Amino acid sequence: MNLAIMASGRGSNAEAILQAVEQGTLTARVTALICNRGDAGALDVAYKHNVPSYVVPRGQFASSQDQQERMLELLRDANTEFIALAGFNAILRPSIISEYPNRILNIHPSLLPAFGGGIAPEPQAEALRAGVKISGCTVHLVTDIVDSGPIVAQAAVPVMAKDTVESLSTRILEQEHRIYPIALQWFASDHVHITHGNVRVESGVSQAVWPNNAR
Ligand code: GRF
Repeated sequence: MNLAIMASGRGSNAEAILQAVEQGTLTARVTALICNRGDAGALDVAYKHNVPSYVVPRGQFASSQDQQERMLELLRDANTEFIALAGFNAILRPSIISEYPNRILNIHPSLLPAFGGGIAPEPQAEALRAGVKISGCTVHLVTDIVDSGPIVAQAAVPVMAKDTVESLSTRILEQEHRIYPIALQWFASDHVHITHGNVRVESGVSQAVWPNNAR
């Protein structure tokens, strides 16, 4: 599976994906990392792993549509078959989504459908404000409605009384790094069935990760 990563920030999920590829637990080739910011840590991650990276900043285009048309060209040039959004902070336009139906995953730092819509660390802050006792992360397919596509995998973490946005984010991030490569491998190995917007993994493996089996 030719995989492209799209990122805007630190790049720790990109790092986890690339490590899984190198360890052989994710049988994909990462053919491009596309970034909408020139200062993103994700670019260093791509460099370290010898992945071609492309910076496509909004400021160089008349509209976000033009910007994403350029991204689409780059995706095509890299023979992309599947896309992993890894901290990508822009909303994908229909032209990219329609070219990769059920072939784009995102990771979100909450248990969707709770606390969707915001960019990290807003979902974690919202979870703390709401006083939930369990939070986590969700890998989901990307559709035209933000953070509302079919859920592929979720990992739960406890919310502690003393948690800050930072400490909760760190606990969630550890699980993000764990479940994102696993979910991608389900697609790489063609084990995913999607019926009426419901994702089922063929082998019957659990699509949930609970605190007692969390590291
Ligand atoms: C993660 O919290 C992810 O859930 C969210 O953005 C953050 C990206 O972090 N979508 P990183 O750039 O992968 O370190």
